[in-house]
Amino acid sequence: MYHCSSIRDVKIGGILPEKFKIKGGAPLKGEVSIGGAKNSVLKLMAAAILAKGETKIYNVPDLTDVEIMSSVIEDLGAKIFYDKQQKSISIDTTNLTCITAKYELVSKMRASFIILGALITRCKEAIVALPGGCAIGERRVDFHIKGLEALGAKIKIENGYVHAKASKLVGADIYLDIPSVGATENLMLAAVLAEGATRIQNAAQEPEIIDLANFLNTMGADVSGAGTSEIVINGVKASDIHPIEYTTIPDRIEAGTYMTAVVATRGKAIIRNIYPGHLTFFNDKLIKMGASIKLIEPTAIEVSCKNRLNSINFVTQPYPGFPTDLQSMAMVLLTTADGVGIITESLYENRFMQVPDLRRMGADIHQDRNHAIIKGVKKLTGANLSASDLRAGASLVVAGLMADGISVIENLQHIDRGYENFEEKIKLLGGKIERYNDNTEINLTEGLRNESHL
Ligand code: EPU
Repeated sequence: MYHCSSIRDVKIGGILPEKFKIKGGAPLKGEVSIGGAKNSVLKLMAAAILAKGETKIYNVPDLTDVEIMSSVIEDLGAKIFYDKQQKSISIDTTNLTCITAKYELVSKMRASFIILGALITRCKEAIVALPGGCAIGERRVDFHIKGLEALGAKIKIENGYVHAKASKLVGADIYLDIPSVGATENLMLAAVLAEGATRIQNAAQEPEIIDLANFLNTMGADVSGAGTSEIVINGVKASDIHPIEYTTIPDRIEAGTYMTAVVATRGKAIIRNIYPGHLTFFNDKLIKMGASIKLIEPTAIEVSCKNRLNSINFVTQPYPGFPTDLQSMAMVLLTTADGVGIITESLYENRFMQVPDLRRMGADIHQDRNHAIIKGVKKLTGANLSASDLRAGASLVVAGLMADGISVIENLQHIDRGYENFEEKIKLLGGKIERYNDNTEINLTEGLRNESHL
């Protein structure tokens, strides 16, 4: 049973026929506050399993992915309470009664695979469904498995599940072929109680990795080097680990999405509750395109843009490079920039899912394998659009806000995974957006003449 002070309308996995109706053209102005980092919170929730007792995490966004992770952890026997007002989640792991993460949940959210590292540490055994691929790419988990084997876990893969057992894990040197975020995190969790030192080389350096290391260290673990390419985890005793209270970092991808929306609409807004240092590479590219970004407080920036943007080229890379999760947003900006921009997506095989819809809005994009060549046009026009995954979906919202006329976006369940109160925040900035769930066909041309419904 999911204990929550506010059960959201969108049920886990439920596909409600909700849509966004957006009238583009209004410059976004004002202030917006960014929530906690989804990609950190999910891992901290799994890490809470390491300590018997009640751990409380603050700055937790109200998202379907958080609900799914809550269900995964509740299935293990933990008790969870989400306080919507306080934006906190309490996870009581005193009694774990199960070591299995079912396919029904893992297949809905691959991040739940992180439970493997936490369970093997706490329970010495874990049975976790293999997540399989997803819309944006193959997304294998071989580094997670090989790393756990290097630590001494015996692993069998049967019937679509990973069955891992280890009466004792022993620290090891592990080299990751790619600085995988998920593998780094899973191995950090698995190494906390391992005998001796574990060294993860070519580790992911994302801010979410540092957040997890800080969380684990606050619990009593001994993790150093997070944020660099080599992380060392000195194993501690189970009795050293205790429940904690912890506040997660702000969501840099949510922040980057609003920054893009402000720039796209030639607006001017303050983005609060962010760590600007987490967005250095992205900020630099926005400035090169012609946006202005001013640091006004240590955790707030003012973003603005007056003129047509310049085109740029970029390659997505692991942190601190250009974040793949903001690639689709930057592509939207390039669709109407002056000149030709080239994007190379180096992390995922299929992360240009937004391209067909952007073309329907009038964008001139040529795609060749993992390269996209975008020739700026004068303007985009509103269209019927469909969110194919989280970030592609969010980029279509930005495109709709920038375009002439009305856009209708469906498949919002993808967007709801990662953006809390998306339309409320956009409305606060003056954007014209509504969520509706009737089946009325909206005549886009008619909508242009009659704006009263927005
Ligand atoms: N990879 C492998 N084998 C592995 C692990 C990864 O081949 O064992 C490959 C993947 O297929 C991918 C690349 O390595 O091509 C990078 O994957 P990584 O493991 O770093 O990504 P992840 O942990 O699955 C997290 C975020 C993603 C974000 C990536 C990269 C979470 C829950 N997800 O995924 O976020 O794109 O890191 O920064 O933390 C999103 O929020 O929309 C999102 C997809």
